[in-house]
Amino acid sequence: MAGERLPWIIKYRPKRIEEVVDQEQAKRLFIPWLRQWLSGRPPEKKAVLLYGPAGVGKTSLVEAAAREFKLELIEMNASDFRRKEDIERIARVAATQSSLFGRRKIILLDEVDGISGTADRGGLDAILELISVTKHPVVMTANDPWDQKLKPLRDASLMIPFNRLSERDVLTVLKRICAAEGVRCEDEALKLIASRSEGDLRSAINDLQAVAEGYGEVTSSLVRALIVSRDREYSPWEMLRNLFMSRYAWQAKKAVTHTNLDYDTVLEWINENIPVQYTDPEDVWRAYEALSRADIYLGRIRRTLAWDLLSYVFDLAGPGVALARRKSKFHWAKYQYPQKILMLAKTREAREVREALAEALAKRLHTSKATVKSDVLPYLSIIFRYRPELGARIALAYNLTERMVQYLAGPAAAEVLEHLKALREGAERPARAAAQPPATQRAPAARASAAQRRGRTTSTTATSRRRRRGGTASGQRTLF
Ligand SMILES: Nc1ncnc2c1ncn2[C@@H]1O[C@H](COP(=O)(O)OP(=O)(O)O)[C@@H](O)[C@H]1O
Ligand SMILES: [Mg+2]
Repeated sequence: MAGERLPWIIKYRPKRIEEVVDQEQAKRLFIPWLRQWLSGRPPEKKAVLLYGPAGVGKTSLVEAAAREFKLELIEMNASDFRRKEDIERIARVAATQSSLFGRRKIILLDEVDGISGTADRGGLDAILELISVTKHPVVMTANDPWDQKLKPLRDASLMIPFNRLSERDVLTVLKRICAAEGVRCEDEALKLIASRSEGDLRSAINDLQAVAEGYGEVTSSLVRALIVSRDREYSPWEMLRNLFMSRYAWQAKKAVTHTNLDYDTVLEWINENIPVQYTDPEDVWRAYEALSRADIYLGRIRRTLAWDLLSYVFDLAGPGVALARRKSKFHWAKYQYPQKILMLAKTREAREVREALAEALAKRLHTSKATVKSDVLPYLSIIFRYRPELGARIALAYNLTERMVQYLAGPAAAEVLEHLKALREGAERPARAAAQPPATQRAPAARASAAQRRGRTTSTTATSRRRRRGGTASGQRTLF
C-alpha cells in the first residue's frame, strides 16, 4: 500500500501530547494521573474515563501519551466488549506486573459506551474486575458515559471531559494538513468543511481528503458539491453506476461508502459486475487485483478488529476498481445480481426440497429420512434423468410436487413433467367418469375399459401406449 493512500486521519494523528489541539483541561487531569501511576504508587482511582463528542482527540491523546512515555499500548475496542473472555484475557495482562526489562503498559478500553447497547452485564463486571486487579493504568473512552448501566464504571474512574473543538481549532488543523500535503486549499473551502464538521475533526479531515484526492485542490465549489450530495444512500445498482462512472477517486469512494449494504455485499456486487462493465481484459485484471486486496483487508479486520483498515477496503473497492479502467470504452452496462447470493438462496431451496422429499418417501418406504437421502434419492435421481417416463410414473405414485421432480430430474425435469401431465390427464378422466380411486391403483385393463366406455378407443396416442407398455401400480412399487 503506497504511503499516499494512507487515510489522513491516521497519517496526521498527533504523535505527541502537545500536538493534540485544545483539550487543555483534559490534559491537566490526565497527565498528572498518568505520572502518578508511573511513579510506582497507583493513584486512588486506577482508571480514567475520557468522555466527550466523537473526533475530538480522546483516543489520540492516549496514543500520543503512550508514545511519549514509552508505554506499550494494550488496546481493546468496543466490538470486543461483547465477549467476556476477551476482557478477561486483557485483565490477565493488566494484572501482571511488567518484568524488570519489559516495557510498562497502558490499557485502553476504547468506546466502552458500546457495552451498554449490548446489555452485557458479564462484560461490565469483567471490566470492573480488571480495574480492581490492574497493575497498569486503565483508560476508558466514551461518547456518552451517562447511561445508567455505566454508573459502576463512572464510580470506579476519574472522569475527564473533552470539549467539542471550536471551528477555529478545526480550521487550524485543516490548514496544517493542506500545507503538509502541498495541496492548494481555499480558505473559504476549509471554513465550509470546518463549520459542517461541528467540531468533529475526524469527519472534517475525511472530507478534506475526499476532495483533495479527487481534484488535487480544495475549492469551495467542490466542497459544496461534496456536502450537498453526501447524506443519502445508494441502492446496489446506483452504487455500481456511480462507482463505474466516477472520474475521480473521491466519487468512487463516495459510491461505495454511501450505501446501506454491508461490506461483504458491496464486494459481491462489484465482484459480479466488473466483467460486465469492463471489456478490456487488463482493466478487468486490474480491477480484480484491487478488489481481492479489499477482500484481504476485510478479512483482516474481521480477525483483528482493526477497524482503522476499513478505509483501505473502501479505497480499494471504490477508487481501486473505478480507476482500473484504462482501455475499456465506457458503456451502459446492465448490472446483474451477484450469483453467489443467488446460489445461496437457490441451494437453500434445494435443501428444503430434499428434506421434504426425504420425509415424504421415508414414510412410504418405512425407513429413515437419512436412508432415503443416502440410498434412495441418488438412484431416483438417475432414474428421473435417464428414464423420464419411468420417473413420471414414480412421481405420480408418490404424489411428488413439481419442485421435487425438478430437484430429482435436473435437466430432464421438463420431460418428466410432460410425461407426468399426460399420465395425470389419462388417469383423471376415467377416474372422474367412474368415480373410482386414482388410476394408478388400478390395473391398466380397467383404465383402458374406462377409456373405451367414454368412447376413447384411439389407443395409439403416445401416452396410452406408454401407459400400456409400462405399468401397473404394483410394478412401480417393486422399484424399491
Ligand atoms: N484534539 C485533536 N488534535 C489533533 N488531532 C485531532 C484532535 N481530535 C481529533 N483529531 C484528529 O481526528 C482523528 C480522530 O480523533 P480521535 O482521537 O480518534 O477522536 P475520538 O475523540 O473520537 O477518539 C485523529 O486521528 C486526529 O487526526
Ligand atoms: Mg476514539
